[in-house]
Amino acid sequence: MNRMAVFASGNGSNAENIIRYFKTNTHVNITHVLTNNPEAKVIEKAAKYDVPTIVFNRNEFYKEDKVLNILLEEQIDFIVLAGFMWLVPQKIIQQFFQKVVNIHPALLPKYGGKGMYGDFVHKAVSEAQETETGITIHYVNEKYDEGDIIFQKSVKIVGGEDPASIAQKIHALEYENFPKVIEKLFAN
Ligand code: GRF
Repeated sequence: MNRMAVFASGNGSNAENIIRYFKTNTHVNITHVLTNNPEAKVIEKAAKYDVPTIVFNRNEFYKEDKVLNILLEEQIDFIVLAGFMWLVPQKIIQQFFQKVVNIHPALLPKYGGKGMYGDFVHKAVSEAQETETGITIHYVNEKYDEGDIIFQKSVKIVGGEDPASIAQKIHALEYENFPKVIEKLFAN
């Protein structure tokens, strides 16, 4: 059985979708959700499926080894970032080399980097009058949105679509593809 942890900072709709998808999977067990945000909606969402959440602060993540130690003690094999806002420290990246994946709501390398998250991305895409956008699933390295790309899928934008409408299309793409891509990574 592969043990997977999901990191999320906010709403957690992708985290919930992933938890639901793997609930009956006999090879993948989502043992924990980890969050930096004690108010995150993801906590209630995970609880609905009896997945416990661990909350940590900046010190525990960057200066102390609390989070790394939990991952090691819990024998986590794989980490999924689903709307997780903090840069993952080098010590975790090294320990879990090519075992940490993130989803980004645009076609990287476009619209990536620090400050490019959530609605900021969709607003920038809309303002630039792009004719398409999409999602990128990638390995995580020590820089925002720069690890090796695993999967991308694009979607057309029709003239004058606002950020909210783009966000809706992106979420649909994420829900459909993120769990399947994770599952394939385990199969390899
Ligand atoms: C998603 O669009 C994801 O691509 C990005 O953050 C958003 C999180 O949304 N990394 P949710 O918390 O899963 O609803």
